[in-house]
Formats: sequence, structure tokens, C-alpha cells
Amino acid sequence: MTEIDKTNRKGIVLAGGSGTRLHPLTVSVSKQLLPVYDKPMIYYPISNLMLAGINEVLIITAPDQEHLFRNLLGDGTQLGMQFDYAVQEKPEGVPEAFVIGADFIGDDPVTLILGDNIFYGQGLVQQLRHAVRSDRGATIFAYIVSDPQRYGVVTFDDTGKPVEIAEKPKRPRSDYAVTGLYFFDNDVVEIAQSLKPSKRGETEIIDVVRAYMTRGDLSVERMGRGIAWLDVGTHQALAEAAAYVQAVDHRQGFKIACIEEIAWRQQWIDDAQLKSLSAHYGNSPYGEYLAGLLESRL
Ligand code: TTP
Repeated sequence: MTEIDKTNRKGIVLAGGSGTRLHPLTVSVSKQLLPVYDKPMIYYPISNLMLAGINEVLIITAPDQEHLFRNLLGDGTQLGMQFDYAVQEKPEGVPEAFVIGADFIGDDPVTLILGDNIFYGQGLVQQLRHAVRSDRGATIFAYIVSDPQRYGVVTFDDTGKPVEIAEKPKRPRSDYAVTGLYFFDNDVVEIAQSLKPSKRGETEIIDVVRAYMTRGDLSVERMGRGIAWLDVGTHQALAEAAAYVQAVDHRQGFKIACIEEIAWRQQWIDDAQLKSLSAHYGNSPYGEYLAGLLESRL
């Protein structure tokens, strides 16, 4: 990787929620702090924002959990980044991220990633970089799944234009699920502020996406088969994600979502900073991996 210019685009990781499907794991600890093989879950969405060139990130947590995220990630300077923190009092909808984050976002475009979404694979970085370059409208990502009725589902016309988005449809008209990664221009703040809660008492991100579709400002990028999208909300999905990450790590010797490595490869930190991060993790395999990067220079 060569030096990656940082963009003015802001990033938000939404890491609140109640994680009820993961009880009792999440009774006292946020889902996004649980391990996915060798690192906390939140490393994965942060790595995706970094790969898009985003270095100013707001982490939104449940009220009693903020200090745990701060202990883990600090202010971001160790990665050549800036981490801010905010609290969502109750999980009343994904679009609240833009209301809570309005001051942080300021006049800039913003990318939101759900804290339990993992993306990895061939072609992902190019897709992220492409989306980041557009300062107008919205870009979302669609991914073929075998159980679309569990997700927001996007339908395309013959020319590939998105024509319908349905939330958890009983009879999905396509297999394309909307993933938890959204690129918006600055209008999203106003759109989110004007939303009304749906029947289930939450504001819905699909309503934000629809607002962009209605004005003809929505681009839906399809993620190909070479990319893995995992949303890690159940015990089974958590175990499967860990097995996937372990298999890649073991087979190739490369780590998925190693945020220190990404910062170093993008030249946001130098060799000395990487060395000190490696020392911080002691003699764990993760720390040794970071030290090994300086020797192998692959
Ligand atoms: P969900 O998986 O829909 O909800 P959850 O994490 O509370 O889990 P459960 O259904 O088991 O109770 O949320 C997806 C992601 O978005 C997850 O990272 C939590 C986050 N989220 C918030 O932080 N605030 C919210 O208001 C919502 C709706 C989700």
C-alpha cells in the first residue's frame, strides 16, 4: 500500500444497541467489544473506514460502555487518526447517528458503518475509494444473500438502476440485501433530523436511503462474490466469523482488519510508532505480527 490521502469525509461507527440476540454474552459488555478471533469486533468496521481513507471517526456507544471503548482505542493519535466518542441513550434507530453526530460532521460528507458489520476481500478497497470520491448524493452497497427477508432489500430495473427498497420483505423481489455501510453527502443530517419513527418505534436507515432514491441521488454498488460480508449479531454468526478470520490468518499469515498495520501501510504512522504499538501488545501473537511487519516489509 502506498500513502493514502486522508479525506475530509467523516466516519461514524455505530456501536450501541442492546445486542439481545447475543445474551448472555452482551449483558455487561457491548457486542462490538466481543472478540472475533484475535481482536475486538470494532476493529473490523474501523479498518474499513481507514481503507476508505477516513481518519476522523466518531464512535457512538451505549451509555455505560463509552469508557471501555476509550480504554481500547484512545484518541486515535497512535494510529494517525482522531477518535471522538458520543453516547446513544437508547437504541432508537440507526439514523440517530447523524443527529447525535451533527456537530462532529459539520459541513462534511459522512460514512456510517454499523459496529457489527465485517467486510473483507478482493476489490473492496477499490469500491471504498470510489465511493469516497463522490461528495454528492448517497452510495450504499448491496450483497447477494440466501435469506434476503432478514434485510433491507434493493430491486434493480433492467438498466441496473435501483427502483425499490423494502425493509425485511416477506416476499423479497431480489436477493440483494443492503449492507451496513453507507456513504452520504452532508444533507443526511437534515434528512435524519426530520425522520419519524416507524411502526417498531425506531427511525429507519432505509427511509434515509429512500429519500436519496426519490431525488435520484442514490448509487447502489453491488459487492461481488470475492468479498465477504458478515453481520455478526448471533452466536452462530460470531462463531462463523471467528472461524473465517482464523482460516485466512492461518493460511496466508495476513491479518484481517489489523488497524495498526493499515495505519502503517497507508503511512499514517511511521516505523517507530508501529514498533511502539507492537510493544504495547506485548508478546501476544498480535504484537509479534506487528513487529514482524517491520522485518518482512511484504
Ligand atoms: P441490530 O443488530 O439491529 O441491534 P442490536 O445490536 O441491538 O442487537 P439485537 O437485535 O440482538 O438486540 O443493530 C445493528 C448495529 O447497529 C449494531 O452494531 C448496533 C447498532 N445500533 C445502534 O448502535 N443503535 C441503534 O439504535 C440501532 C438500531 C442499532
